[in-house]
Amino acid sequence: MPIKVALAGVGNSASVLVQGLRFYSGDEKKGLWHPNVAGFKPRDIQIVAAFDIDSRKVGLELSKAVFAPPNVAKKYVSIPRSKVTVRGGISRGDVAPHLSGVRLERMSSDDVSEGLEDSGADILVNMISSGCTSSTEDYARAALRAGCGFINCTPALALKNNKLVADFQKAKLPLVGDDLMSQFGGTIFHKGLLGLMVKRGIKVSKSYQLDVGGGSETMNTIDEGIKMAKRGVKTSSVAEEVPYKFETIAGTTDYVDYMGNDRTSYFWFTGSTFMESGVTVDVYLRSSDGANAGNVLFDVIRATYRCMKVGKLGTVGEICAYGFKSPPRPMRHEEAFTKFAALYVR
Ligand SMILES: NC(=O)c1ccc[n+]([C@@H]2O[C@H](COP(=O)([O-])OP(=O)(O)OC[C@H]3O[C@@H](n4cnc5c(N)ncnc54)[C@H](O)[C@@H]3O)[C@@H](O)[C@H]2O)c1
Repeated sequence: MPIKVALAGVGNSASVLVQGLRFYSGDEKKGLWHPNVAGFKPRDIQIVAAFDIDSRKVGLELSKAVFAPPNVAKKYVSIPRSKVTVRGGISRGDVAPHLSGVRLERMSSDDVSEGLEDSGADILVNMISSGCTSSTEDYARAALRAGCGFINCTPALALKNNKLVADFQKAKLPLVGDDLMSQFGGTIFHKGLLGLMVKRGIKVSKSYQLDVGGGSETMNTIDEGIKMAKRGVKTSSVAEEVPYKFETIAGTTDYVDYMGNDRTSYFWFTGSTFMESGVTVDVYLRSSDGANAGNVLFDVIRATYRCMKVGKLGTVGEICAYGFKSPPRPMRHEEAFTKFAALYVR
């Protein structure tokens, strides 16, 4: 039985997800982190509906929309024609800065629910722009009415909304998030190095992570309000790795259009060891944003579907802690990975 997935937001990470589904549609395993999660292969995931508000994508068939501007994610594979046409989406006025001046295609939350029901979607994956808290809540409610699980990849804090969480629990549907954590992006790299320093007895005193990238998501993130909100989520996630207070900052600092979907994260760590001698680390990481999300998206979709179908909603917390920067029950990354793997990785 396929895992039927609907997408809210057909941006760069959606583009790489759709391309990844094509790339791994056979027995290809190159670059695949977990071929089998919860008894499912990536090829068991099927996209059945997609919603966006950008008129440059709405009305296009999905295989074309994923390459439509302003998407800049690399074309890794050609995608055959799909039966899915991108429909208009919900917008509660929290329109992303990169869409200013663009004609928007809006639908009501009820229309989105109906679209989800018609498509037979099991899960709605929310990949709309950062800074859209109200629209994210509306998508979650549309999913709820349609009997779908909801995976929130955005930094809008859906799982901190107690009423929403309670409504999903009552309906026995999974609500998973918030803010996807890439496979090897700035946050996990920062957490990993801090964890290593702590393990080796270094007293960490300060660290920072300054991200520079291209693509519409980075362009939105230099808006002051969105920047500070995302910085809060990333900084809290990073701070979780150190069992005492220290000074740290993590977040996007600039947008460079010709970087496309790439990102460079600059890190600096300082601490002390024997007789208070100092240790300093200065490193950078270059990665491709959309592709960095692919493996984790594959994993959380398969695990969420599993816990939805077998009624094991008690394990949603482990999926959130493994795949997201702001889970309801934060864990150090090693613990989160070990728990997720024990439950889901075959
Ligand atoms: N590695 C990753 O790619 C990664 C990691 C963590 C979190 N995320 C989050 O995933 C989300 C998507 O990232 P991206 O790089 O694909 O961004 P993007 O800017 O490339 O794409 C966002 C898409 O959402 C659409 N959109 C905006 N508002 C909408 C609405 N109300 N309804 C429907 N569509 C709407 C935009 O038109 C665009 O197509 C962001 O919130 C980002 O923070 C991505």
